[in-house]
Amino acid sequence: MSSTSAVLQERSTEPGAPVLVVDDLRTQIHTPRGDVQAVDGISFTLGRGETLGIVGESGSGKSVLGRTIMGLYTTGPTMTITGRVLIAGKDVHALSTTALRDLWGGDVGMVFQDPMTALNPVKKVGVHLTESLRKHRGMNRAQAAAHAAELLNLVGIPEPRRRLDQYPHELSGGMRQRVVIAMALANEPALLIADEPTTALDVTVQKQILDLLERLQDELGMAIMLISHNLGVVAGRADRVAVMYAGRVAETADAATLFDVPHHPYTEALLEAIPRLHQPPHVRLAAIDGAPPNMIAPPVGCRFAPRCRYAQPDCTAAPPVLDAALVRGVADPRHSFACYHPVNAGGQ
Ligand SMILES: Nc1ncnc2c1ncn2[C@@H]1O[C@H](COP(=O)(O)OP(=O)(O)OP(=O)(O)O)[C@@H](O)[C@H]1O
Ligand code: SF4
Ligand SMILES: [Mg+2]
Repeated sequence: MSSTSAVLQERSTEPGAPVLVVDDLRTQIHTPRGDVQAVDGISFTLGRGETLGIVGESGSGKSVLGRTIMGLYTTGPTMTITGRVLIAGKDVHALSTTALRDLWGGDVGMVFQDPMTALNPVKKVGVHLTESLRKHRGMNRAQAAAHAAELLNLVGIPEPRRRLDQYPHELSGGMRQRVVIAMALANEPALLIADEPTTALDVTVQKQILDLLERLQDELGMAIMLISHNLGVVAGRADRVAVMYAGRVAETADAATLFDVPHHPYTEALLEAIPRLHQPPHVRLAAIDGAPPNMIAPPVGCRFAPRCRYAQPDCTAAPPVLDAALVRGVADPRHSFACYHPVNAGGQ
């Protein structure tokens, strides 16, 4: 079996330069019922080899964020995008349509929740892979077919030559997701955006796929944005985590810090909702009471206030901004949260 590095050579990005820079990104979706501020002022950077977990309940804006970063969403009649996204130094929203197409499957790859959305049911597995290899890397038919088989091998698909000749519906859900990952990795992306890559799969396959992404990341050094509604899925896999609530970041920190000393009441509530290994399976998880806000007319102050057990009158006056957490009186540049009355904040 050929090694990964023989299949995919390292991409030359400036050492130390962030692969992804997101600066005050806002995505407003215009609907007949009003404007939805789905992403509302998000900023972060992601370095080579780093994994950022994006976590939040359904409707918090995770997928819109991922798609806006990819350049799949751009300003037009149905949307307004402001702020900036740089991928490997390229300003995504200033690129021409041709340059954007070169970016997709080039510098950035994306894996969606449902592999069938990324696969064309009437095209064989091999065609999905070879089309991109021929387009982006100028390979001829035979070279592309050989490389496609190597890619399937890389993502742990047995009998790759035979699989290339099959249609997506002939593969199991786990195998289909592996094909999608192979497609996303075909051209050595500097950044992989994985939006709920395992939600549709059973627990054993989930673990295999997440382990696979981790192994490939170690070998290739790509940055990963791992999106999930479940904090448990990103636990132990993300270096940093950003918790999203109603289009904004409620809290962000190194993963260990976020799990040990969460400061935002929403993060605390999400942590309480993770199943524990020592719990018998029938134990009910602490669900977070209430529902996320209406994103056409969200609450004026803290958007979590209607559901927050620590809410005070000042919480509804103005939105809290993301502030650095204090550790023994010193600001921690890697940990910030947006809350007037943080939890676990003895040292604040
Ligand atoms: N095409 C669209 N038209 C109108 N509203 C949209 C559209 N896409 C997303 N939204 C709204 O934007 C907000 C964010 O949606 P998004 O799909 O990003 O949530 P999510 O965090 O990915 O949720 P999930 O965990 O269910 O995937 C939601 O309020 C959603 O209803
Ligand atoms: S600002 Fe107030 S309502 Fe919002 S999370 Fe903090 S304590 Fe709760
Ligand atoms: Mg989503």
